[in-house]
Amino acid sequence: MKSLTILFLLLITSITSMKAEQATIRISTAETDLILKTAPNGRLYQAYLGEKLINESETQSLSYYITHPASDGAVTPRGWEVYPVSGGEDYFEPAFAIQHNDGNMTSYLYYQSHEVQDIDSNTKKTIIKLADDKYPVQVTLYYVTFAKENVIKSWTEIKHNEKKAVKISQYASSMLYFESPKYFLNEYSGDWAKEVQLSTQELKFGKKLIDTKLGSRAAMHAYPFFQLGLGQEVQENQGTVLVGTIGWTGNFRFTFEIDNVNNLRVISGINPYASTYELKPNEIFKTPEFIYTLSYKGAGKASRDISAWALKYQLKDGQGDRLTLLNNWEATGPNFDENILGEWMHEAHDLGVDMFLLDDGWFGNKYPRFDDKRALGDWEPTHSKLPNGIPGLVTKAKEAGVKFGLWVEPEMINPKSELFEKHPDWAIMQPNREPYYYRHQLVLDLSNPAVQDFSFGVIDKILRENPDLAYLKWDCNSPITNIYSPYLKDKQNHLYIDHVRGVYNILKRVTEKYPHVEIMMCSGGGARCDYEALKYFSEFWCSDNTDPVDRLYIQWNYSKFFPIKAMAAHVTSWNKSASIKFRTDVAMMCKLGFDISLKELSDDEKEFCKTAVKNYNSLKKVILDGNFYRLVSPYDGNHTSVLHVSKNQDKAVLFAYDIFPAFKEKLYPIKAEGLNAEKLYRIKEINLMPNMKSTLADDGKVYSGDYLMKVGINAFSSDRMSSKVIELTAE
Ligand code: DGJ
Repeated sequence: MKSLTILFLLLITSITSMKAEQATIRISTAETDLILKTAPNGRLYQAYLGEKLINESETQSLSYYITHPASDGAVTPRGWEVYPVSGGEDYFEPAFAIQHNDGNMTSYLYYQSHEVQDIDSNTKKTIIKLADDKYPVQVTLYYVTFAKENVIKSWTEIKHNEKKAVKISQYASSMLYFESPKYFLNEYSGDWAKEVQLSTQELKFGKKLIDTKLGSRAAMHAYPFFQLGLGQEVQENQGTVLVGTIGWTGNFRFTFEIDNVNNLRVISGINPYASTYELKPNEIFKTPEFIYTLSYKGAGKASRDISAWALKYQLKDGQGDRLTLLNNWEATGPNFDENILGEWMHEAHDLGVDMFLLDDGWFGNKYPRFDDKRALGDWEPTHSKLPNGIPGLVTKAKEAGVKFGLWVEPEMINPKSELFEKHPDWAIMQPNREPYYYRHQLVLDLSNPAVQDFSFGVIDKILRENPDLAYLKWDCNSPITNIYSPYLKDKQNHLYIDHVRGVYNILKRVTEKYPHVEIMMCSGGGARCDYEALKYFSEFWCSDNTDPVDRLYIQWNYSKFFPIKAMAAHVTSWNKSASIKFRTDVAMMCKLGFDISLKELSDDEKEFCKTAVKNYNSLKKVILDGNFYRLVSPYDGNHTSVLHVSKNQDKAVLFAYDIFPAFKEKLYPIKAEGLNAEKLYRIKEINLMPNMKSTLADDGKVYSGDYLMKVGINAFSSDRMSSKVIELTAE
């Protein structure tokens, strides 16, 4: 023991001796610099975050202290500490809070060392080690930079070797500081069928939080991403904008705090609500990744950068193709049988899509799933509906010439299920109170490894027995209710975090064993959409609201943070007052699918849909892999327009939508972006109803990219809920 103490003292001496050393750590993308510096007190401060500096030598001039003098004229020692801990001299929200074994609640973290690893020619990882000088607590900061895409991700690892567990009650992924006369926050709130509603506010002194406490269907009311305009409101094509998002499929929290001198700090991480974590000696607490980009040319550039990053580095199968599909949920709900599904498969083939996706309602025998009150957990096909099980359906799909996909909800349990009768202790539920339900269901306790094994086993069995199954729609309809884990017993404060880790464990095992299966993330619509989950999901379901008018806003907002390829959009019967063309044109700007019975459609409408699928297939690469431009905002009037441009600028697809134009409203031309000014593009309106001619004055004409970007194209009309899809082809 004595020798351990001596060793520890020696360690402290070596840390202390490093305090004198000055380190400057430059973390850069092609356009942004984050510069950290050690101060003479041995601690690490943010000296700069902004547009990349040209002269390396000038980074030496950056100061690590707040430069304004304190009221007595002395320079205050309070600076922008990179990972400030509670109980220190900083008067604002800390990144980290800890209680040591002796009850003390302070920590000061001193710089120890850092290293930079080249992951590849575009990616660098900077690892910075910090440690307390009085307690054996180590904090490691990680920064990964993606130069070309201007994206930085950062996370933190916390570790200690005190005798017993320490309690950590705040554990940010990252803390960033900004200095600007004004700050404007764009946040996104929601509910079922009302996803990603934009609201903007100017931040003033004090704190603004964006957080969730919903656990599993975590983003139902608040989304794990934001845009921050520095100096002015967020604009599409100019101004400095921070786009930030946290990769955590559970309770998250962003804290925006403006201090006494109008500096802003942005703290991102897991929401520590009800989650003081007892960290055992030598256990590593790894925070989620905070992913961000700074654009100096507005929000459009930030979206394109983060999308390019996601396709290359984060989204499951980001470089791969996507399957178009026909889904049965909106038309049949859980009421179908094998014969009816056989007809759907033929309809899918007739329509020209790649796959038929069977939704909820295929399972449960003791309690067959004819409604949403029963059977979650009993993942056996219902004999009366599907006498030949899933293999029978896979075969039928093959015969119809389409692939087959299946809906699952493996994190949930209905109290009315055989699983619940056998394992009531597998549900998150109070032992001594009446349960309350969200959608008649409970959340499985995935902090329990046995329950993780069960959920993995369900998916494993389906995929093992059906190797031709191409796609899963993985739903998650309930937030965590009745917060109590029978497994965690006296460690209930670990539930929110360990549950999410359990979800990742299942997803990791599934995607490692079945990498070829495309998986859609769904959460009662779009209540789950974060970048950690998207490592395991090839796309997400944006919303059950498929009214094309509402969708224009929903898709507009998601596109600020996610690649178009990740955004699933289906043509349905929502808002039948909109034409099938308008509904299809809206879905076609994302990853296209249909959730409608072809029997509902007239011959002309059917013909139109088939042509639209063909057009989509021929333009899929441009739409899903090109650069995306938001040209005219639906928030600015009665029209909206977006443009996809292929990487080589040879092809582009322009979508123009008239929502509810006013009588005799003046119509403005749509100015393109991202084209090659020198190239000549032929204009062709596509997706026309059978026997209809284009009303586009410029149809068939050829213009330079320069003209199309400066003068534009007259594609808006005065018709309500009308649309045009225009193909631009370089000659
Ligand atoms: C919610 C999803 O968002 C819907 O698309 C559908 O899959 C239902 N769940 C099924 O219960």
